[in-house]
Amino acid sequence: MAFLNIPLTLLSIAIAGVGFLMIQTVAKHTQKYVRTQQKSLGQMNGLVEEQYSGHSIVTIYAGQKEAMERFDRINETLGHTAFRSQFLGSISNHLSGLISNVGYVLICVSGALLYLNGAIHFGTIIAFMIYVKMFTGAFSQLSSAVVSMQSVAAAAERVFIFLGYGEMPVEEEKVDVSNVKGLVEFKDVHFGYDEDRQIIHGFSIRVEPGQKVAIVGPTGAGKTTLINLLMRFYEVGSGDISIDGISIRDMTRHQVRGLFGMVLQETWMFEGTLRENIVFNRTDVSDEKLDEVCKAVGLQHFIASLPKGYDTPIKDDSSISMGQRQQITIARAMIDDPKMVILDEATSSVDPLTEKLIKEATDRMMDSRTSFIIAHRLSTIMDADLIIVVKDGSIVETGRHEELLRKKGAYKELFDSQFDVSSD
Ligand SMILES: Nc1ncnc2c1ncn2[C@@H]1O[C@H](COP(=O)(O)OP(=O)(O)OP(=O)(O)O)[C@@H](O)[C@H]1O
Ligand SMILES: [Mg+2]
Repeated sequence: MAFLNIPLTLLSIAIAGVGFLMIQTVAKHTQKYVRTQQKSLGQMNGLVEEQYSGHSIVTIYAGQKEAMERFDRINETLGHTAFRSQFLGSISNHLSGLISNVGYVLICVSGALLYLNGAIHFGTIIAFMIYVKMFTGAFSQLSSAVVSMQSVAAAAERVFIFLGYGEMPVEEEKVDVSNVKGLVEFKDVHFGYDEDRQIIHGFSIRVEPGQKVAIVGPTGAGKTTLINLLMRFYEVGSGDISIDGISIRDMTRHQVRGLFGMVLQETWMFEGTLRENIVFNRTDVSDEKLDEVCKAVGLQHFIASLPKGYDTPIKDDSSISMGQRQQITIARAMIDDPKMVILDEATSSVDPLTEKLIKEATDRMMDSRTSFIIAHRLSTIMDADLIIVVKDGSIVETGRHEELLRKKGAYKELFDSQFDVSSD
């Protein structure tokens, strides 16, 4: 180009430079709107999901107006930013077209003037007209690529934040747990979900193999937290938990969880048949065994009422009652035949008659197995080998039912409060 004509070359470069700067300026402005747009879209999806799944609660508390206002606020930001980012994105495209055309005209006019002065040949002007088109053509492609890149970058940024979280370390099996008897020991365990708020303050207890241990205490005392630590859902802050003298830190999470059968406060059902929900990932369960377990937890009448029995599909959680879900979860734990058992408020949603039935069944399951039971209704744990009363993450009393009643302490207080309630 420069060999043909220096002034026209400089003009072409100037046009390209101006074009580049203008597109960059617009892109910079667009970027902030694209980011906000993606953020609002995430908020909007979150809100819709939350309001949809909690629709009955929203309706009961007459929260529709508030929900709609929140939706409108997010929607307004989303609409506003989407409009701006689309507007600036399309400006960027048209801007490159404009620069291309203005550049074309400038080259024509300057070429014509140079030609009139006899400084260049006519062919050179034609060559520069083609050059400038090629130059600016590349710019318009660049600008549309920048617009798409921006929305990809804003979305990817959010995905990368998620991917950036640390991975759980891969664990190797270092110890053999196949012959575990069930001696569980908590040694001066301290723990807090957040660094600045400790929940468990120096918890120590030794549970002999086969013992039935009940953990009682007021709401928020840290009972479920103790179970979370035992199952390695969280790691202890300081101190140690061991099973048969082996620290659970030396076992893999998979090994620890394989030792326990759990029935938690929150039940979990997945989409599949009732049979699949009960046997879960086992394949060697006979129908007789299934019948036996379901009868033990009092599910047989419910199953008989279903059109396809065990093969009835469970579409979603709402198609079964809370109590039935607890019965299914207990049946799942019983089928699994674990070495140790954990029941966290396992019968809180069933009627007293079913509770009695389940208690008999779980007593059989817990017989000769180390078991941990958390229950608010003390009637379910009166026969435990050891009752641990926790308050604010510390043990306040331990002993058997009669012993604790004689002590006239925290357990007696809990017991009396229930007695008062039941005699009302
Ligand atoms: N995932 C969590 N993150 C932060 N704090 C938590 C978490 N889970 C529980 N907590 C807090 O830890 C404390 C103990 O909770 P925990 O669930 O162990 O109580 P709990 O004794 O099982 O009560 P409940 O009888 O109601 O089941 C509570 O103050 C609770 O707010
Ligand atoms: Mg709990």
